[in-house]
Amino acid sequence: MSTKLLKGKKGIIFGALDEKSIAWKTALKCYEQGAQLVLTNAPVALRMGEINRLSELCGNAPVIGADVTHLDDLKHLLQDSMKHFGGKIDFILHSVGMSINMRKGHHYTEISYTHNHKTLDISAISLHKLLHTAWNMDAIADWGSVVALTYIAAQRVFPDYNEMADAKALLESISRNFGYHYGVRNKVRINTVSQSPTRTTAGSGVKGFDGFISFAENMSPLGNAPAEDCANYCVTLFSDLTRYVTMQNLFHDGGFSFTGVTQGVVDKMA
Ligand SMILES: NC(=O)c1ccc[n+]([C@@H]2O[C@H](COP(=O)([O-])OP(=O)(O)OC[C@H]3O[C@@H](n4cnc5c(N)ncnc54)[C@H](O)[C@@H]3O)[C@@H](O)[C@H]2O)c1
Repeated sequence: MSTKLLKGKKGIIFGALDEKSIAWKTALKCYEQGAQLVLTNAPVALRMGEINRLSELCGNAPVIGADVTHLDDLKHLLQDSMKHFGGKIDFILHSVGMSINMRKGHHYTEISYTHNHKTLDISAISLHKLLHTAWNMDAIADWGSVVALTYIAAQRVFPDYNEMADAKALLESISRNFGYHYGVRNKVRINTVSQSPTRTTAGSGVKGFDGFISFAENMSPLGNAPAEDCANYCVTLFSDLTRYVTMQNLFHDGGFSFTGVTQGVVDKMA
């Protein structure tokens, strides 16, 4: 049932690679709730063509290529989006992550620093670049909302999450710090959503992902949070029902983050 929570709102969705992507599901939910959208991804991802299908499902939302590490790309994206919307942007989903060291199977203690810079740039500093560009262009409407997706490896050690743990810690810090400044100037709120492990292209890049996902399932009172529910949560954060929530890291993980141990895990250990 649609309540049109986002009626009249205009948003940009980063990172819908295919229908498994959290961004893909979020775009569908936002559209269902009445939002007008612009979809964006790296030019290399757009070449897969999948996103055109999502665009059709979202009322022929424009697809604009942008590499999140390139300031010029971000500027053009924001300019073209405002032109399309005929005004400022109400919400943005940053759903972007990539680690070459993980892809190449480099151990955390033996990473390549060239790749490490790229990982931090794509997965964390890109949020600063996006917000900095929007700030200079005054592109986000007052009381707008920005959400970036993160993972609990920013707070606790998950050895196979590798350098992405550092990237997520930086991402969350940028969200808090820019959240302060953008809040003061424009009442724009900025939060991160810390999602359960989810079967997507980026998620499956984590070594031993099957074990990882079933451990989290067993350690969460509600079980792992599905991607569709993460999308629903993002909708609430883009809506006017959460106008005073900002600078937070919000766990969307079925209770995993505050569970010491579950009876199911104890029984398995006994
Ligand atoms: N899947 C999980 O288990 C999980 C859990 C918690 C948080 N997250 C986070 O959710 C977000 C979305 O990931 P996902 O799981 O939906 O996987 P995904 O692979 O579908 O999405 C990652 C996206 O990042 C985009 N991207 C990579 N480099 C880019 C660049 N230079 N410029 C622009 N876009 C670029 C990719 O094209 C892709 O669309 C990521 O931040 C990820 O870390 C995922």
